[in-house]
Amino acid sequence: MTNSVFFFVFILQFLFVSYGDEVHEFNNLQEDVESLPGTQPYRTGFHFQPPKNWMNGPMYFNEVYHLFYQYNPYAAVWGNITWAHSVSYNLVDWVHLEAAINPTDPFDILGCWSGSTTILPGGKPVIVYTGADSKNNQIQNLAIPKNRSDPFLTEWVKSTNNPVMTPGSDIGPQDFRDPTTAWQGPDQVWRLVVGSKINGQGTALLYKSKDFVNWNRTTNPLHSSNKTGMWECPDFYPVKIYGINGLDTSVEGNDTKHVLKASFNDHDHYIIGNYDAEKDSYVVETDFMDDRVQLRFDYGKFYASKSFYDSAKKRRIVWAWVVETTNQTVDIEKEWSGLQSIPRTILLDKSGKQLIQWPVKEIEKLRGEKAEIREKEMSPGTVLEVVGVTASQADVEVSFSVSNLEDAEVNEPGIIDPQRLCIQKTASDRGVLGPFGLVVLASSDFTEQTSIFFRIFKNQENYSVLMCTDHSRSSKSSEFNKTNFGAFVDIDPSKKISLRTLIDHSIVESFGGEGRTCITSRVYPTIAINDAAHLYVFNNGTKSISISSLEAWSMKRAQIAPLRKRRKHPTNN
Ligand SMILES: *[C@@H]1O[C@H](CO)[C@@H](O)[C@H](O)[C@H]1NC(C)=O
Ligand SMILES: *[C@@H]1O[C@H](CO)[C@@H](O)[C@H](O)[C@H]1NC(C)=O
Ligand SMILES: *[C@@H]1O[C@H](CO)[C@@H](O)[C@H](O)[C@H]1NC(C)=O
Ligand SMILES: *[C@@H]1O[C@H](CO)[C@@H](O)[C@H](O)[C@H]1NC(C)=O
Ligand SMILES: *[C@@H]1O[C@H](CO)[C@@H](O)[C@H](O)[C@H]1NC(C)=O
Ligand SMILES: *[C@@H]1O[C@H](CO)[C@@H](O)[C@H](O)[C@H]1NC(C)=O
Ligand SMILES: *[C@@H]1O[C@H](CO)[C@@H](O)[C@H](O)[C@H]1NC(C)=O
Ligand SMILES: *[C@@H]1O[C@H](CO)[C@@H](O)[C@H](O)[C@H]1NC(C)=O
Ligand SMILES: *[C@@H]1O[C@H](CO)[C@@H](O)[C@H](O)[C@H]1NC(C)=O
Repeated sequence: MTNSVFFFVFILQFLFVSYGDEVHEFNNLQEDVESLPGTQPYRTGFHFQPPKNWMNGPMYFNEVYHLFYQYNPYAAVWGNITWAHSVSYNLVDWVHLEAAINPTDPFDILGCWSGSTTILPGGKPVIVYTGADSKNNQIQNLAIPKNRSDPFLTEWVKSTNNPVMTPGSDIGPQDFRDPTTAWQGPDQVWRLVVGSKINGQGTALLYKSKDFVNWNRTTNPLHSSNKTGMWECPDFYPVKIYGINGLDTSVEGNDTKHVLKASFNDHDHYIIGNYDAEKDSYVVETDFMDDRVQLRFDYGKFYASKSFYDSAKKRRIVWAWVVETTNQTVDIEKEWSGLQSIPRTILLDKSGKQLIQWPVKEIEKLRGEKAEIREKEMSPGTVLEVVGVTASQADVEVSFSVSNLEDAEVNEPGIIDPQRLCIQKTASDRGVLGPFGLVVLASSDFTEQTSIFFRIFKNQENYSVLMCTDHSRSSKSSEFNKTNFGAFVDIDPSKKISLRTLIDHSIVESFGGEGRTCITSRVYPTIAINDAAHLYVFNNGTKSISISSLEAWSMKRAQIAPLRKRRKHPTNN
């Protein structure tokens, strides 16, 4: 059951330790970076990627954002997993440092897998991570910085107390991984959750400690579900009701709700509930795999996400590992596999029923040339090119307005699975109000194109807005999975319908309804690459709709590179 390459792939974490004015030193580091990789068509310009090889995972902060991620230093496939480490001052430009933790000890000899960081009082960061021991059993370990005065925390030392958590007799030895960031209850006791399954049911095991070294498992887990299997990379944190800021992981109060995220079935699912630290109870309104509503961070490719609290900017940020959908042969040839999504701020929607995600503000510093369209009617069948921006590396914000809602088509009875609707009703299937949206990474003859669009349906008493990404014509190559993605967007279609899309060569990240529904795709066009890629806005419905506004920007390259002097792997040229 643990044979899958993706099985172990999880997690990361971040830290933030405040170091005053080390910016100068950081700039010097950046001057010393290697020249940027060449012009492979699928390599991204502003998404975090290691120089080579296979990766996944997330990050943290404190004047320095640290990203730790699962990395194979030797190959573009899973194996030899270390905690790679990169640092940044702005979440956009990154310098790759040496690995923070390597599989060198009996308690992690077969791999240093996902985990999390926690900042203990007094500004003391600690990593809790899953080690695979010589029997490939999973146990939890601690590591701390060797020198907390080192602004980049380059060296980490493992605790002599490792392992600090081992699976109980009721837990499969290979079903015990991915500890969360810890939080402190009103009783000052630390708590964290480990992903597991008991009797086949996905479970968030709860552990408590007074000293962060001696951990006891509580009798009852924090939460479990009989509708899912193993939970990977759990995440548990507070969000503020009607809040505009994020919250530190230990915050509790009447004006908060708690989010539990678990990674399973190739997606990051979450639920929202009320947590009481005194009783360690977590009460949810709708559970995982509920028949009525299933919340996911992203309805495309976005897995093993981790969040962290950025105390400098009072926001909670989440990001995730985005897999390749090419086959392994292709990954080995191009010598890399996997990247990080753009970091997203997370807030609780005013409805209290779901989260809202939005790309961090810092990414806007890469915006260059701009194209703009205002108040334009789009008659049925219109396809309008957005000119003046580099369509293969762009940021687009568009909002549409729709009148005559009562004309909307009626959803065929029985089809309520939005992804199924998007597979059946592609961008070529002309409805009434929609499909309308963006065509990205398109060749000038449209033989290659990826579209992100909306479609409005009428229900008995209401309307629903479907958001789809259609990859069916995204590439002439048949070597990857072109299944469409889709989800409903919980917005009122009589108001503006907005879409933001970040396009970066082989990744397309879309935020519908101001971040209520997100869909990330990997696509690999063969003609519509670099300067041959085009960007359009379209309406394929049989009724007119209007563009309220469209703004598109070329995106500059982020500086993401390894240190020349510290080059670690001689096989990398
Ligand atoms: C792991 O590293 C060893 C060398 O230390 C190498 O022989 C082996 O092929 C690597 N395995 C993978 C899956 O990368
Ligand atoms: C710790 O790091 C600081 C800042 O880089 C440095 O001045 C100090 O010498 C280091 N201490 C040790 C023991 O290496
Ligand atoms: C853990 O269990 C030990 C032994 O029962 C107990 O002494 C200790 O107080 C417990 N720690 C916590 C944090 O509950
Ligand atoms: C699954 O769990 C739910 C809620 O805890 C419970 O109502 C239901 O009976 C359980 N179903 C099975 C098959 O155990
Ligand atoms: C929070 O709720 C509890 C229980 O309902 C109540 O006793 C307490 O006063 C509330 N606190 C605040 C700050 O509203
Ligand atoms: C993977 O893709 C390559 C290149 O397109 C192709 O030659 C190969 O047959 C594919 N392998 C598998 C197992 O699908
Ligand atoms: C609109 O629909 C037509 C007819 O089905 C199709 O040929 C065309 O490709 C569609 N346009 C887009 C942008 O998908
Ligand atoms: C392609 O992707 C879809 C949706 O993610 C998945 O259900 C399907 O099993 C995949 N097909 C193959 C052949 O992997
Ligand atoms: C109508 O749809 C909106 C947006 O999806 C939703 O917020 C609202 O609750 C719905 N109203 C009814 C009566 O279902």
